[in-house]
Amino acid sequence: MVVLISGITGQDGYYLSKLMLKEGHQVHGIVRRNSQKTYGVLDFDEELKSKLNLYYGDVTDKSSLDSIFRQVKPNLVFHLAAQSFVQESWSNPEVTYDVNIKGTLNMLNSFREYTPEGKFYFACSSEVFGKVADEIQNEESRMWPRSPYGISKLAAYWTGINYRESYNLFVCNGILFNHESPNRGVEFVTRKISLAAAKIKLGLQKELKLGNLDAKRDWGFSGDYVRAMYLMLLHKEPDDYVVATGETHSVREFVEAAFEAVGLDYRDYVIVDPKFLRPAEVQYLRGDYSKAKRKLGWEPKVKFKELVKMMVEADLERLSG
Ligand code: NAP
Ligand code: GDD
Repeated sequence: MVVLISGITGQDGYYLSKLMLKEGHQVHGIVRRNSQKTYGVLDFDEELKSKLNLYYGDVTDKSSLDSIFRQVKPNLVFHLAAQSFVQESWSNPEVTYDVNIKGTLNMLNSFREYTPEGKFYFACSSEVFGKVADEIQNEESRMWPRSPYGISKLAAYWTGINYRESYNLFVCNGILFNHESPNRGVEFVTRKISLAAAKIKLGLQKELKLGNLDAKRDWGFSGDYVRAMYLMLLHKEPDDYVVATGETHSVREFVEAAFEAVGLDYRDYVIVDPKFLRPAEVQYLRGDYSKAKRKLGWEPKVKFKELVKMMVEADLERLSG
């Protein structure tokens, strides 16, 4: 099959393109032009990059998408591109809405115009649950986003459902809970922590400034989650799915485990800095993935402790290298 991925230079784009190649598909990706020629995470894996067909485009520019869809004619479209950092969405709400809402609308319109018989995945987020009403959130749980980012993902989620219902298109929303890896962006809390633990261990950093240590998240591994995206598009009918581990841990537990992995006590290094607190916080997330298990046969493989260890060890190795 011919696969098109927006956001291919990000964390999930990396694992998804690897999976798609392994499955024998032809992989095409949309890359945003930056002032420096960079391919994000792909710059660390030249072998992978050489197997991909990459096109300059921006999801806010419909003409660039039209030209890519015309050339590629994808069977499977994974729309991952986004302004994905929640904190940033308060500083840049317009960019967040433009990229995440209008960008999704543009992708859906190009899809509808050029490859309506194909299948479309949208990267929705557990941030849509925000002020949670249920102890464990599933596809039926109340959605009450708490940030411009969460609102943008909710608007795009409904746009996807509306396109499915209005035009009979195969569109799936993956409501993914937090997922991490050694390729996670350094501003997200898990990677900020794993990198700091490794640097402090090697004497390259003295302290770690964090915000809310009591926030709880359901953290899984990106490599597991991209498999769920693929399974959604292989299913005979389009639907929306929660993808999660079913476990929740606090930021404090993550720091504790990361520092433990390098033989240190986090309390000697961590400082709470109000700069990293959010205007409105999502205090608690825990996902119920039973629908994905039942309908797709999907389950997470990597658990919390293993994930923390994987990230810290990867950062230690990179820094030592
Ligand atoms: P990420 O690492 O931040 O990657 C985002 C990607 O989007 C990058 O390739 C980025 O390109 C691209 N992008 C941003 N603006 C663009 C634009 N205007 N036009 C074209 N491309 C653009 O995010 P991720 O962790 O892989 O997540 C993938 C998707 O899943 C995102 O939509 C995110 O919101 C969503 N999601 C993530 C999680 C999670 O925990 N990771 C959970 C739920 C949902 P550059 O390299 O040029 O910046
Ligand atoms: N980034 C960051 N930096 N977060 C911190 C810090 C810090 O120094 N200190 C505490 N936190 C807390 C945040 O307040 C939040 O409660 C939690 O750590 C996780 O923050 P992030 O890692 O930035 O992720 P997120 O949960 O806001 O968003 C991620 O997950 C969403 C899915 O629920 C992103 O990947 C989103 O794109 C994704 O949709």
